[in-house]
Amino acid sequence: MATEETLVLVKPDGVARGLTGSILARIEAKGYSLVDLRLVEPDRERLERHYAEHEGKPFYEPLVDFMMSGPSVAIRVAGERVIEGFRSLAGTTDPTTAAPGTIRGDYGRDWGLPVQQNLVHGSDSPESAAHELGIWFR
Ligand code: PPS
Repeated sequence: MATEETLVLVKPDGVARGLTGSILARIEAKGYSLVDLRLVEPDRERLERHYAEHEGKPFYEPLVDFMMSGPSVAIRVAGERVIEGFRSLAGTTDPTTAAPGTIRGDYGRDWGLPVQQNLVHGSDSPESAAHELGIWFR
């Protein structure tokens, strides 16, 4: 199986809550490699490119606004089947139903918070990973 790379974002809620270190530890404990890492305060243009496939969905504008509310940590992560593997490590989109043992299931706060505050983003396909890594590590 070929080594892949994926984009992981620790979103503004994860950074603000001081969870970056815990999330990095889980990625490393799983055996993935950190290839590059940076703190980014994305502008609207970068986020519109990142979330282009979701434009027009009801959560699109709140999601972009939330992602501009503070810095995110962008991480280039490498490993075998890391795209699928990190999505599994993150847990399902909604922290309420994310399984215990996953990042969202263990740390996601669900009392009254909108779904976009779900701590992390991970690319969902090789094509998305290549596209997103180009946006965040240009
Ligand atoms: S979809 O529609 O199935 O493709 O959506 P999904 O892949 O689960 O999520 C795409 C991104 O949108 C965020 N999302 C939401 N934000 C707010 N409210 C709702 N209801 C919602 N549903 C999905 C989700 O967290 C994804 O953003 P990232 O930054 O990738 O986590």
